[in-house]
Amino acid sequence: MSILITNIKELLQVRDTNVTIVKGKDMKVLPVIKNAYVLIEHDTIVEYGHMDDFQDTDADEIIDATGKIVLPTWCDSHTHIVYAGDRTQEFVDRINGLSYEAIANRGGGILNSAEQLQNTSEDDLYNQAAKRLTEVIKLGSGAVEIKSGYGLTVEAELKMLRVIKRLKHDFPVKIKPTLLAAHAIPKEFKNNKKGFIDLVVNELIPAVAEEQLAEYIDVFCEKGYFDLDDTARVLEAGKKHRLIPKIHVNQFNAFGGVALGVNHKALSIDHLEVLNPEDISALKDSNTMPVALPSCSYFLSIPYTPGRAIIDAGLPLALATDYNPGSTPSGNMNFVISTACIKMKLTPEEAINAATINGAYAMGISNQYGSICRGKKANLIITKAIPNYYHLPYAFGDNLIDTVIINGQKF
Ligand code: NIG
Ligand code: FE
Repeated sequence: MSILITNIKELLQVRDTNVTIVKGKDMKVLPVIKNAYVLIEHDTIVEYGHMDDFQDTDADEIIDATGKIVLPTWCDSHTHIVYAGDRTQEFVDRINGLSYEAIANRGGGILNSAEQLQNTSEDDLYNQAAKRLTEVIKLGSGAVEIKSGYGLTVEAELKMLRVIKRLKHDFPVKIKPTLLAAHAIPKEFKNNKKGFIDLVVNELIPAVAEEQLAEYIDVFCEKGYFDLDDTARVLEAGKKHRLIPKIHVNQFNAFGGVALGVNHKALSIDHLEVLNPEDISALKDSNTMPVALPSCSYFLSIPYTPGRAIIDAGLPLALATDYNPGSTPSGNMNFVISTACIKMKLTPEEAINAATINGAYAMGISNQYGSICRGKKANLIITKAIPNYYHLPYAFGDNLIDTVIINGQKF
């Protein structure tokens, strides 16, 4: 099967060499070919260029993209797409004045989602997650990381991760599974946090490793959840089983979690709504990707990650959705990109780099995903006819996507 896309108004994120990360000032550069073509064979991008250089080629299907823009699919490196039910009542409670913290303190929040998930069958959980995954692919996501973390028991965490494994098998998009081993302290361990960490270290992590259900280990490093010592203990235990660290850190408080993540060679550290100069220094000269989640800030009305300061310090930045029932009930990367431009003052070029190449880096797949490069996976978005790529962040409420191609096939 081959697809030839011709007359493309703007072909974005074209890289002749296999760039796997963009940092600092380079994030302002988004290579574009105007009036371009792309040739896909099977699941791979084999050729692209200017229409003037186009040599007539046989293809099974020709798509005329006159007036349209083509770019790599979004790489969403932080989601919790597998969850049960919703938290709409908490949403209304917050409108009426309760804080996210107050809701968690009265036994809601993550514990609410955990209770719903524990009472949901694996098949039902799969069906709920599959519906969400289908929607986000239609919105242009071609690679997603998915976390566990709403199980809070060994059995329920395994159920979540088995659902992720089934999604991985059934869907054409790239899926990277993460064991979010320490997300909240379960009710049964309310006065025995150490007991819960013992369970995570001695039972949960080995069980997940045994079934090879995860590639990453994650912790919610935050006041009222897991402190630096707890986080270090869980990351160390994960590393013994070859799980690579990724952490939720600095969402509400900054107390050294960024440096801890960097010291543990985390692939990414995510949230960072509260960030101090020491955190930025800790990230310099590291291979750790800072990840911002602007639709979480939007939904919870909390500060936006200072993406401008991160990029201006010469660092890379990735953007992801954080799709989950409590803090971000949306997996729309197009909204994330708009919000990063509007609220975090990223330029459209920086936001698109953050949501493609750098998102792929934060999932360890940027040698295969995140740019238009010969030999890379043919995961492409074809937009509707729009004047230029600035319209992607500018027309923030519109769905500008016409076609999504995953592994060389229309989804
Ligand atoms: O990334 N911050 C921790 N975990 C999730 C949300 C948890 C929830 O409220 O369900 C997040 O925002
Ligand atoms: Fe999250």
